[in-house]
Amino acid sequence: MDIISFTDKYYEKYGNRNDKPALFFSPGRVNLIGEHTDYNGGFVFPCALNYGTYLLIRKVKGNKLSFSTINFVDDTEVEIKDIFINTSRKWINYPLGVLNEFLKKGIKISGLELLFFGDVPNGAGLSSSASIEMVTAVAINELFNAGFSTLELVKMSQKAENEFVGMNCGIMDQFAVGFGKKDNAIFLNCDTLFFENVPLVLNDCSLIITNTNKRRGLTDSKYNERRSECEKAVELLQAYKPVRNLSELNTGEIHLLEKYIKNPVVIKRAKHVISENGRVVEAVKVLKENDLIRFGELMNLSHDSLKDDYEVTGNELDTLVYEGRKLPGVIGTRMTGAGFGGCTVSIVKKTDASKFISELSVIYRKLTGLEPDFYQPEIGDGAGRIG
Ligand code: GLA
Repeated sequence: MDIISFTDKYYEKYGNRNDKPALFFSPGRVNLIGEHTDYNGGFVFPCALNYGTYLLIRKVKGNKLSFSTINFVDDTEVEIKDIFINTSRKWINYPLGVLNEFLKKGIKISGLELLFFGDVPNGAGLSSSASIEMVTAVAINELFNAGFSTLELVKMSQKAENEFVGMNCGIMDQFAVGFGKKDNAIFLNCDTLFFENVPLVLNDCSLIITNTNKRRGLTDSKYNERRSECEKAVELLQAYKPVRNLSELNTGEIHLLEKYIKNPVVIKRAKHVISENGRVVEAVKVLKENDLIRFGELMNLSHDSLKDDYEVTGNELDTLVYEGRKLPGVIGTRMTGAGFGGCTVSIVKKTDASKFISELSVIYRKLTGLEPDFYQPEIGDGAGRIG
């Protein structure tokens, strides 16, 4: 979709070619390492993609918000109220939840005409949700001169997702989408929100994202189950020391888990979180030292831990990862995002990339009956106005 035909579609829908809409873009994200650590106050290492959500938007007279999207047929009008309520149309809840956060902070909103277009696959673990939220947040912030900082917009978007959409996510996705920087990954401490941009120099390798194309039916309920298992672990560890979250323990303390947590499942969950934090710290260090081989090994170990200890992978992700590892030129490969389906992220030698794609397609199709999709993204900037 090019910008000219996107704008044409806008005028076809809303008319009045004399009033040019503003254009905003917000990326999706891929997490390189540090999974299921964000809501445990831990470390993550995501980066923003050059795929994401585009929004054309303008103010209009009156009291009506008009929502439309190029991705499917679904036009909705919503009357502006003091506070919005959750609608039966799932995708509208993302922008509506964000608008609600502005209303709650006392920002008055007038009529709007919005047209969305997204080229990040939905429900694939690449943060299509955070992308829609943040594109709405940056647009409303600018159009109504609300003056919120990027961090405030990130927090408002996360709140919209937690409270309005009803998905109890951590802060990683909205943060990566808001603060992304071209050719850099973000080393973020999710407890303090201190972060550092780290150049993602892959030399003769490239980043390949593979979509399992498995619908992630159970993700939300399993996600919440994992969160409460971690909370349980924190509660039991109070007998050891007064920790606020699992990330206050270090890898040298993993052997103590068995003493304080008797439930073997809860022990495994805690072990994943603590060991994953250790892997993120080391991954950032070795990347800075240009040691991609070790970076790849840490990606592999991360996946193994998500499979064995956190149990959020499943047959499709495991097939891509363990079959992928057998192919030449694969430096590291792991699931990314919440899991249970969605995507893997791999670092593959450029010279082996096309072979990786063709051979893995054949094997994956044969073993699962599903057709995978492959993306070779660039690392882009965070959400903002582009036209
Ligand atoms: C989803 C959530 C994030 C994070 C990841 C797992 O993407 O939205 O907050 O918890 O899962 O790392």
